[in-house]
Amino acid sequence: MAATIPPPLTRREFAALLATVATSPWWGGCRADISSPSLPPGARPLPRPGSISSLTVLVARPGVARITPTLTADAWTLGGSVPSPTIRTRRGEAFGIHLENQLPQATTMHWHGMLVPPDADGHPRNAVQSGSTFHYSFPVVQRAGTFWYHPHAHHHTALQVHRGMAGFLIIGDEEEDALGLPGNEREILLMLQDRGNSLTDGFTYNPTHADMEHGMLRSRVSGNAVPDAAVALGPGPYRLRILNGSHARVYRIALGGGLPLTIIGNDCGLLPAPVTVPSAWLGVGERLDCIVDLTGLPPGGKVMLQSLGFATAGHGPSQNPQGIEMDLLELHRIDGVGTTALDLPATLSTILPLPPPVTTRSFAFSSAEGEAAHRISGRIFDMGRIDLQVPLGQCEDWTFQNDSWLPHPVHVHGCHFQIVSRTGGRNEVFGYERGWKDTALLMPGETVTVRIRFDAYPGLFLLHCHNLQHEDMGMMLNVEVTA
Ligand code: C2O
Ligand code: CU
Ligand code: CU
Repeated sequence: MAATIPPPLTRREFAALLATVATSPWWGGCRADISSPSLPPGARPLPRPGSISSLTVLVARPGVARITPTLTADAWTLGGSVPSPTIRTRRGEAFGIHLENQLPQATTMHWHGMLVPPDADGHPRNAVQSGSTFHYSFPVVQRAGTFWYHPHAHHHTALQVHRGMAGFLIIGDEEEDALGLPGNEREILLMLQDRGNSLTDGFTYNPTHADMEHGMLRSRVSGNAVPDAAVALGPGPYRLRILNGSHARVYRIALGGGLPLTIIGNDCGLLPAPVTVPSAWLGVGERLDCIVDLTGLPPGGKVMLQSLGFATAGHGPSQNPQGIEMDLLELHRIDGVGTTALDLPATLSTILPLPPPVTTRSFAFSSAEGEAAHRISGRIFDMGRIDLQVPLGQCEDWTFQNDSWLPHPVHVHGCHFQIVSRTGGRNEVFGYERGWKDTALLMPGETVTVRIRFDAYPGLFLLHCHNLQHEDMGMMLNVEVTA
């Protein structure tokens, strides 16, 4: 892959490209659409984030989140809306985002799951100070998939995501086009976050000591920043892309009424083959790409997308514990014209297994009581320290061992990996974890081995727990990819 990467755009090339982009109202007018005439009165529509291209200016600034047509909450916005607008691009296209930081504090932007040069990765050392701008520019070299973007500011990632800054980043390509998957109004983007316990308290970040230990857990789940949201589906297939953008919450996604879930993709694109399961685990940072079809339900019927309950190791917080059963999104079957049923091929994509590893490394994730307590192999993040060096293009096996009673969703920047094994705890690699991943969920007692190869760029990347409180407190390492 390394040999085929074109050089990133220069500032001048980007300016020229930007001038050719249609003047859509991207600097403040990109509102999420919260209307849905087809829902019954009283239902709260799931917002549809507006879309922007990958060549644009993105302003970060204080603004409002619109929860209902009459209810707003103070928030921090990217591109003028909460959730942040959906960036849509395709493999082979140029990505050039000019970030303007009008927030009262420093930020950086991270393109989660994207293969980007180190200086465009949003590493906290590349802080964009209040009042400054930063230019993120690179070619889109990877295949289609459901990605996302969020701030990665030193010690302030949780605060900034909580204030409303996070959006989808959708990549398309020809392989996916050929499948004829549902699109446009038949594509539903769902960012799950347990923000608050009431309708409008979801944007003030006031973590308690318990929050800093367990990660912040709340009782009410919002879809695209709206609590208890609903969506209307006519007959025929829909594509439901789910992102866990929470602080710490692990979901066990299932459709009510015993309807199975058909999963076609995960973190970094299509699975080798569709997988139909009764439920699927989704740790923070992970994505699931699903096909949902309510044709079998009578018009007026509804089904709940839920998170099933699960047992935790017994040390959970007393309030809003991990593992409680939760309602995520109400799906209303409405009348309408169906498109023909989707004929999913048995093979969605060809995924070559990585070759055997040249070397292996292991990382222990531990949490003790207290605040400076979340460590990887005994270490707390130090921005100036290189924790490991990995040769570009070398295949390795990395073993992540959870030595604590808390879930740790482990995420690596700058590459995609394949999950090889999981022992302890759930003790299996699920079908929907095949293919390419950028985040692996470690429940308590689990050891997960991933096969990993940094193919794209040398330079400084990160390995961290995506529990945002754990990350902010330093459960993160600097990985230097050497040329
Ligand atoms: Cu989604 Cu390093 O983060
Ligand atoms: Cu990332
Ligand atoms: Cu963690």
